[in-house]
Amino acid sequence: MIKEELQGLVRNKLKDYPFVVVSNREPYIHSWVGEEIKCLRPASGLTMALDPVMQVCGGTWIAHGSGDADPDVVDKEGKIQVPVEAPRYTLRRLWLSKDEEAGYYDGFSNQALWPLCHIVYVKPIFRQKDWDTYKEVNRRFADAVHAEIGDKAAFVFIQDYHLALLSRMIKERCLNVITAQFWHIPWPNYEAFRICPWKEEILEGLLANDLIGFHTLYHCNNFLETVDRVLECRIEREKYAIVRGGHGTSVRAFPISVDFAGISDRASREEVAGEMARLRHEYNLRQEFIGVGIDRVDYTKGIPERLKAIDLFLSRNPQYEGRFTFVQAAEPSRVHVEEYKKINEEVDELVEEINWRRWRSRWKPILYIKEHLSPVTLIALERLANFCIVSPLHDGMNLVAKEFVSSRIDGDGVLILSRFAGAAREFTDALLINPYSVDDIAQAIDVAVNMPEEERQKRMSLMRGIVQENDIYSWAGNIICEIAKFRLPVS
Ligand code: F6P
Repeated sequence: MIKEELQGLVRNKLKDYPFVVVSNREPYIHSWVGEEIKCLRPASGLTMALDPVMQVCGGTWIAHGSGDADPDVVDKEGKIQVPVEAPRYTLRRLWLSKDEEAGYYDGFSNQALWPLCHIVYVKPIFRQKDWDTYKEVNRRFADAVHAEIGDKAAFVFIQDYHLALLSRMIKERCLNVITAQFWHIPWPNYEAFRICPWKEEILEGLLANDLIGFHTLYHCNNFLETVDRVLECRIEREKYAIVRGGHGTSVRAFPISVDFAGISDRASREEVAGEMARLRHEYNLRQEFIGVGIDRVDYTKGIPERLKAIDLFLSRNPQYEGRFTFVQAAEPSRVHVEEYKKINEEVDELVEEINWRRWRSRWKPILYIKEHLSPVTLIALERLANFCIVSPLHDGMNLVAKEFVSSRIDGDGVLILSRFAGAAREFTDALLINPYSVDDIAQAIDVAVNMPEEERQKRMSLMRGIVQENDIYSWAGNIICEIAKFRLPVS
């Protein structure tokens, strides 16, 4: 879908009703760098995907203001027009105290719900105090929505697992509101979910929504099954709907995507060519084969297995020594959480150990760039690579895979992709791997570096066609068409 079509759809379907998006993460973060305020884009698939949609739809996005310079650039309601250089919508920032952040974000969201939903053998931690703070912060978000729309009829689009109770709380405050929620991470099966001590309240909170979206039908089915086993309600399986206490919730799959045209266009610009040259020069990236991985440092992303696979590939194919570099771009993430400290250390040590064992002269096999990289640098890296490894142990979708494909305007490059990422359902032309199997990944690297150009081009062209057809505007368009089926009273 093209931007203009989405614009027409929004006008036609949402009319003049206010449109409010709510998420934990904000799309633009203002930070002090020395004496200057800089505006950064966070490493978040969610915000990267939704920002172009909001630029087309307009409206207000409410999110946690997490930058140290955020308070310095907003008005008295916490608002700022973004993107700053060409404003298209309003960002309304909500401030959280350190204790609120610790309990709601580091605590319940990222130590309980995140491991609970991903099932990668990291135990969820359920602390009563975190849960209480999570509820309190959801209430604060509900107050912010109420302050924004008052008693007006409005559409509210809630994002992700940080805000499972929000819809219910909004509906206690605002009478004329339709809410939809998109759950960006996997929804586990009942056996996994049942250990959550507050499962009933979470499900009740989510069922206040008129529409709930997941990336895949598999997650929709898991959700229906979980609700069926936990709550008294009527499940209408053929309609993918749940009725509880007279209120109906539709459950649908909407595989999220990226701004294919925007990324392709950017990839063709001079600034990306310049950045590719800079990277080649600065990091001495002149080898015959370049592989790339781009991730937040998270234990769900399968980074250690990937690095071990590089090592194994080189052991099996010593002829590639000196001719091959793997660039791992890593954005530190959730750094106050113990499991994230551990994965950081594990990756640091592994890179150091492999490089120490294998380096010679000016060459080492792994280039580890652990810092925040701009969208231009990321596209440049994607364009430099012969192959990209996206190997999460479990992922709702994984937008790096879709960004890689969108950036390959040359139609070349091989994608090595985990079978357990939502993206694998669409990208059957990627080299699909079991991310737990170091052997399997090493074998795929071998196939990638030996793949004939014609086959690479064929596979890439099919994958580009899929993302072009199902881009972020069609994702938003499909959700908006579904939301618009719920009639709002005139305010
Ligand atoms: O995958 C879930 C998710 O919330 C994404 O939507 C987002 O890209 C990522 O995690 C970022 O996490 P955080 O906001 O905690 O940095």
